Parts: sequence; structure tokens; C-alpha cells
Amino acid sequence: MAARKRASTDSSAQTKPNEATKRPKPKEPPLTDPPIAPPKSGVILKLTLFFSIPYFYLIFYHCKIEHELRKSILINAALSLAGLFVTVKMIPVASRYVLRRNLFGYDINKKGTPQGTVKVPESLGIVVGIVFLVLGILFQYFNFTADSNWLVEYNAALASICFMVLLGFVDDVLDVPWRVKLLLPSIAALPLLLAYAGHTTIIIPKPLIPHVGLEVLDLGWMYKLYMGLLAVFCTNSINIHAGLNGLEVGQTVIIASAILIHNIMQIGASADSEYKMAHAFSLYLVQPLLATSLALFSHNWYPSSAFVGDTYTYFAGMTMAVAGILGHFSETLLIFFVPQVLNFLLSLPQLAGIVPCPRHRLPRFDPGTGLLTGTNDGTLVNFFLRRFGRMTEKSICICLLVFQAIACCFCFVLRFFLAGWYK
Ligand code: UD1
Ligand code: MG
Repeated sequence: MAARKRASTDSSAQTKPNEATKRPKPKEPPLTDPPIAPPKSGVILKLTLFFSIPYFYLIFYHCKIEHELRKSILINAALSLAGLFVTVKMIPVASRYVLRRNLFGYDINKKGTPQGTVKVPESLGIVVGIVFLVLGILFQYFNFTADSNWLVEYNAALASICFMVLLGFVDDVLDVPWRVKLLLPSIAALPLLLAYAGHTTIIIPKPLIPHVGLEVLDLGWMYKLYMGLLAVFCTNSINIHAGLNGLEVGQTVIIASAILIHNIMQIGASADSEYKMAHAFSLYLVQPLLATSLALFSHNWYPSSAFVGDTYTYFAGMTMAVAGILGHFSETLLIFFVPQVLNFLLSLPQLAGIVPCPRHRLPRFDPGTGLLTGTNDGTLVNFFLRRFGRMTEKSICICLLVFQAIACCFCFVLRFFLAGWYK
């Protein structure tokens, strides 16, 4: 639900049908809005290099990966790279069209300055979602045979993500009420939940086996319920940890990078082909997510020339949830999501309606100093500002992204120490 104006209804829609057919179709107004600022290419170049070097080191040298599997991963990486360039180029084009349809937002953290009066195009997540889906469909040509067992689940995963993009865009355009918004991901997750034929068991950690009396616990339909709830959590938790230039995409870029490293390490460490396939499958979804998100980041990083919209936050959350579900590492995923879990806990009183919840729970901006002050709204952004003092929007965003990266590193350390519990 963006702070934007919708175009007024065309009165010609009221005319009689035969009159309407006689009249020539009114011409679309020309695309008069000035083009958006060019992408911050330096930012994506630095981030891509920073991530690619250790990642490809793991793929080529550190981890033992069979030739065929490595080939598929590299084909997927090459497609993702192409997707990155297409997305960077398409965002300015799409921006002009969404502006023409009055789909824009004002940058609230710049209110009172000239930048705060600029119409920033909204919902550019739609470009990322479409490019991602095209890559996902094309990749099947290179990787799956017609009788592949994975094809059904892979397409169900794409259907869920596609459904989420659609519902996110509907939310951006129609301003869906907050309580309905919460439920949208559970509808979008249905194709995956119904097609899911994988295991519904959880492995009990070694120290708990004597107490539970089982090594493996089959949760049955409750596992599917858990998967649905995970999708609802991942999507909404990204959407409410937002409102600073670069925060929505930045957190996704960091979590997606951590998921990729986790997948590669698990593929390298295991000899079980099913287990490897599950992680490869997750990786095939997250590589394009990371590449297309980096492209959006180049437009969304401070100062934003494009807003991502709920289309993107829902899409990114759903893709990561699907990757975690089908890769069978949802517990690890939840540790990567520690900042989002904290933000959710801080938000609970307002989300539950115990404390009044304003439309935007953002910090207070002082146009004189350019600094943000934390308000009493329960968000991690406000908590950090109250704890560490007033900061610029860029600094607080960097702090939160560093915190996200620390949470991911912590997850790797925790997994390393707990590895013995599951053997
Ligand atoms: C969620 C949050 C809301 C937060 C908003 C910001 C809850 C319950 N809802 O609402 O508190 O204010 O996200 O995204 O926690 N915007 C900026 N700068 C940015 C990004 C967004 O000013 O860097 C503003 C713009 O006016 C933009 C609008 O936020 O148009 C988008 O808000 P939207 O995503 O529609 O809000 P919600 O997801 O409903
Ligand atoms: Mg939002």
C-alpha cells in the first residue's frame, strides 16, 4: 500500500456500448516523466565480486561436486547473470510506464527536502518477478528431462512464486487491507503444498532422542501446515522490515547469498544423491533471485530511484521460503531470518492491535540535519535508532544490513557446532 495517487476513473466508461464502439480509442498520454536516475552500477559490481569470488572458489575447488551437477549450476548461474543485465535495463523502461499509471510513492524519509517531492516509481518488483520466472522456465530446458521426478515440484514452486507476484502486484495497485495482506501468501503457497510429495518427517537431535523415544518423527499433514506458515512468515517478515532505501532488497541479497553458500557446502559434504538434489533444486531458485535482486538493488540503493513495492517483498519472501522447504533446511532458514524474527516480535503489539498501528511505522526525519530519530513504533529500525542514536538513512540501513550478515554468519557457526547432534 504505497503513498500514491490513482488515476481518476474515465467518464467515457459510462457511455452506451454502441456509442463507445464508434468513438476512436483515446490516445495514451505520452511518457512525459523524466527518466529515473541511472543505476548505481558500482554498487552491484562491488557486491557481485565480493560474493562471486568465495562462491566460485567453493564450487570449483573446495567442494566435491560431480561434473554434471556443476554444469547445471553453472548454466543456471550464466542464465542468472543474463537476467541481471536484462533487469537493470528493464527497470527504467517499466518505471516510465508505472509512473504514467500514477503508481508512485514519495520518499517519506526525505520529507521536507526537494527529494521528498519527487515521484518515485513503485512496484518495480514486477520486473524482477517476471525476469525470474522466465529464467526459471528456460532453465528447465537445460536441466530436466520430461520424466524427471523433480519437474512437478519445480513447476509447483514456480506456480506459487508466480501467484505471489500476482497477489503482491494486486496489493500494490488495490491497497489491500492489512489483515487480508497477511493471508495472501497462504493462498499463493497452495500449488506447492498440494504438489509436495517429499518427506514430512523431522530428524530428532541426538540429545533429545532418549526423551522423545524416536530418531525420526513423521508430522504428516502438520508438516504441510508448517510449510504454509513458513511461507506466510517469510513473505510478511520481509515486507514489514522495510521503509529505508535499500533495506528490502539488501536483506534479500544477504539472505540469498547465505542460502547459496549453505547449499553448495551441503552438496559438497554429502554422498546422498537425493539430499544433493534437494539442495541443488533450492540453489536453482536462489541464484536467479540473487542476480535479479542485485539489479533492483542498483536502482533501489540510497537515494532510491525506484521502489520495490509489495510485489517484490512478497516475491522474495516466497522464493526463499520455497527454497528452504524444497531444500529441507527450514530451520537454518529461520536462523538466517533472525533480524526479521526480532522485527516481528517487536511488531507484535501493533500487529495484534494492542497498541495503535499507524500506516507507516517509520522513524522521524529532520530535514535540517538530514538525520533520522527512532520513534516508539515497534520496529527494528526504530529500536536501532533509539539504541545507537540518530543517524542518516544510509547509515542506519548499512547497520541493519551488517546485522543481517552477522546473523547469517552466526547461523553457519551454530550449524558447525550442532552438526554432531544430527549424525
Ligand atoms: C510496511 C510497514 C510500514 C512501512 C512500510 C514501508 C508494517 C505493519 N507495515 O507497510 O510500517 O512504513 O512497509 O515500506 O510494518 N517508502 C519510503 N522509503 C523506502 C521504501 C518505502 O519512503 O525506502 C514508502 C514510500 O512512500 C512507498 C511506501 O513506503 O510508497 C511503500 O509502503 P508499502 O510497501 O505499501 O507499505 P506496507 O507494506 O503496507
Ligand atoms: Mg511493503
